[in-house]
Amino acid sequence: MAWKDWIRTAEVEPSLYAADFSQLGRQIEIVAAGGARIFHFDVGDGHFVPPVTMGPIVLEWIAPIIHRLGGAIDCHLMVEQPERHFAAIAEAGGDSVTFHHEVVENVGETARAAREHGLQAGLAFNPETSPEDAAAAAADHVDLVLCMSIHPGYSGQQFMPESFDRIARLRPLVPDGVYVQVDGGVDGTNIERLRAEGVDLFVAGTAIFGEDDPAAAYARLAQAVR
Ligand code: DX5
Ligand code: ZN
Repeated sequence: MAWKDWIRTAEVEPSLYAADFSQLGRQIEIVAAGGARIFHFDVGDGHFVPPVTMGPIVLEWIAPIIHRLGGAIDCHLMVEQPERHFAAIAEAGGDSVTFHHEVVENVGETARAAREHGLQAGLAFNPETSPEDAAAAAADHVDLVLCMSIHPGYSGQQFMPESFDRIARLRPLVPDGVYVQVDGGVDGTNIERLRAEGVDLFVAGTAIFGEDDPAAAYARLAQAVR
């Protein structure tokens, strides 16, 4: 399986970081019932980003639930030396890893290492990094390019409005068949414009799990971009 099999035109990915961890499996089932298929799983190491978030130990509990529901797990590695975690993520059931341009010297090599573990590969870049630099580094090496629309680390931050322009600059530089993803502060007020600027994959945490009815919140966002 690969990104092209998971994506139905455009996809909204619930970010589990914003879920109620006391009932993580149930929260996954609820948004899957609302139509979600790709789940975003944020790994933070306390170095590249301030918080330690979650890792393979949590992943191995939820991966069987997501796969049973026909879904996939997109792991966003907000960590230094991401390649150190590929084997454990693959063993725990992850489907894809997105690592950061800011910490990787050779994107081609890192992407190859991910694929050797059966993982799809993505390249993320921070608000301080130029989209032109990120696109040049991504070249033909990755399946997706992730434009951060917040400083990575926490759910629930404000969307940075300059992200619209950054995505508009990025999109024409990314090869056909490589997906553009956005992460941070995505909600009903910005998602349609982000789609118009060329985003294929929309990560949304608080806009889904912060709502009383996460399934309905997911469905509204998905509806807005299809
Ligand atoms: C934080 C993570 C995000 C986060 C998004 O840096 O990468 O995936 O969970 O959450 P919201 O949608 O609330 O900004
Ligand atoms: Zn993320």
